[in-house]
Amino acid sequence: MVSIIVAIAQNGTIGDKNALLWHIKEDMRFFRTTTSGHPVIMGRKTFESLGSKPLPKRTNIVITRADRTFEGALTAHSLEEAIAMAKEACGDDEIFVMGGAQIYAEALNVVDRLYITRVERDYEGDTSFPAIDYSQWLLISEERHERGEEFESPFAFQIYNRI
Ligand SMILES: NC(=O)c1ccc[n+]([C@@H]2O[C@H](COP(=O)([O-])OP(=O)(O)OC[C@H]3O[C@@H](n4cnc5c(N)ncnc54)[C@H](OP(=O)(O)O)[C@@H]3O)[C@@H](O)[C@H]2O)c1
Repeated sequence: MVSIIVAIAQNGTIGDKNALLWHIKEDMRFFRTTTSGHPVIMGRKTFESLGSKPLPKRTNIVITRADRTFEGALTAHSLEEAIAMAKEACGDDEIFVMGGAQIYAEALNVVDRLYITRVERDYEGDTSFPAIDYSQWLLISEERHERGEEFESPFAFQIYNRI
């Protein structure tokens, strides 16, 4: 199974100047717990936003059009190739597409599941998640938090399966 994992603000933004716009401890923990032990696929810019360091305990696959490699990660030249590499590395394990916007736009057409953290306030940013056609997705779970330990706005962890 291939899944998207993303945190989206109320107005659709997911980042600005190649960085995240919020720091929500609970979301970081959710991301780590959900993806640990699974392959993660990301665009070159998202890899750079992590300081060009691979996420530990996960096979990291970076997508680029360039003829180059990334320390600690496998390189793919398309989403399709990245998914094939992830399947080769990990068999039937769940595979996570973890951004950014360019990679999500392609992946939205092919993934089976969406893990969306809804950040329930607006953020100004230069990067947004593509429009989701909700007639294709069934909400299967939702866990809402009125606020985080340090984050003052509400947020919710949602999981959707493709219908
Ligand atoms: N809120 C969240 O959950 C979340 C998650 C992840 C990222 N983000 C944010 O998203 C932003 C980054 O997103 P982004 O859209 O700018 O960049 P991105 O999707 O991470 O990476 C874009 C790069 O991926 C490569 N690429 C894209 N499509 C390709 C294709 N079809 N074939 C081969 N390579 C391809 C290209 O690399 P080359 O230029 O090297 O060819 C392109 O420049 C940051 O602000 C980051 O913080 C947010």
